[in-house]
Amino acid sequence: MCIIAPSILSADSGRLAQEIAAMEAAGADWLHLDIMDGHFVPNITFGPWVVEMAKKTAKIPLDVHLMVSDPLTYGPMFARAGADIVTIHTEATVHLHRALTAIREAGAKPGLVLNPATPLSAIEYSLDLVDLLVVMGVNPGFSGQPFIESTTQKVSNLTKFLQSRKLNIPIEVDGGVNDQNAPHLAKAGATVLVSGSHLFKSKDYRAAILNLRKLCQNP
Ligand code: DX5
Ligand code: ZN
Repeated sequence: MCIIAPSILSADSGRLAQEIAAMEAAGADWLHLDIMDGHFVPNITFGPWVVEMAKKTAKIPLDVHLMVSDPLTYGPMFARAGADIVTIHTEATVHLHRALTAIREAGAKPGLVLNPATPLSAIEYSLDLVDLLVVMGVNPGFSGQPFIESTTQKVSNLTKFLQSRKLNIPIEVDGGVNDQNAPHLAKAGATVLVSGSHLFKSKDYRAAILNLRKLCQNP
């Protein structure tokens, strides 16, 4: 089964609640919320109030992606705001173990994200602490960037890495996902696909989600 998670970074921000409701009604499995602090990445997005609003608006799980330099402070804060999953970057802190544990204690499932240049070894000693692993398909900070092709090989390497340790942690790909690369990512072992610009620029959200899921499930 594949999970399709629209990223509301590409939504019409003046109609955010309606866009969230429309994506849920169109069959989105999860909602992906990108939190940027203007420090870890050169862009600023939303605070916890958007997660609180999304929680009231939609019933599907909220996958909150923290692109922040201080995940130890903000991880638990976003968990308390209503995130079901909080993912943090391996590159953001030297205290990954502490931050992941704090997120779980605050009531959310913790996950780890790898930037395009970050090796798989960065997650090796955190695997027992996470419920989701995210491979970035672009450099974090903006939606609508072109997919970095080496991501597919990285997902395949991660799949083998997890299999060799007999671990069944889902792999999410975030950034640049579209109908062309989805089948390759699925073959490589990804089961959660985040999509911002591709889904939000489609005329028919339902058809676009269905098609992406079909391409992921029957690659
Ligand atoms: C990038 C974000 C992504 C982004 C995806 O920093 O983490 O979630 O919104 O958007 P697209 O699919 O347009 O690359
Ligand atoms: Zn994201």
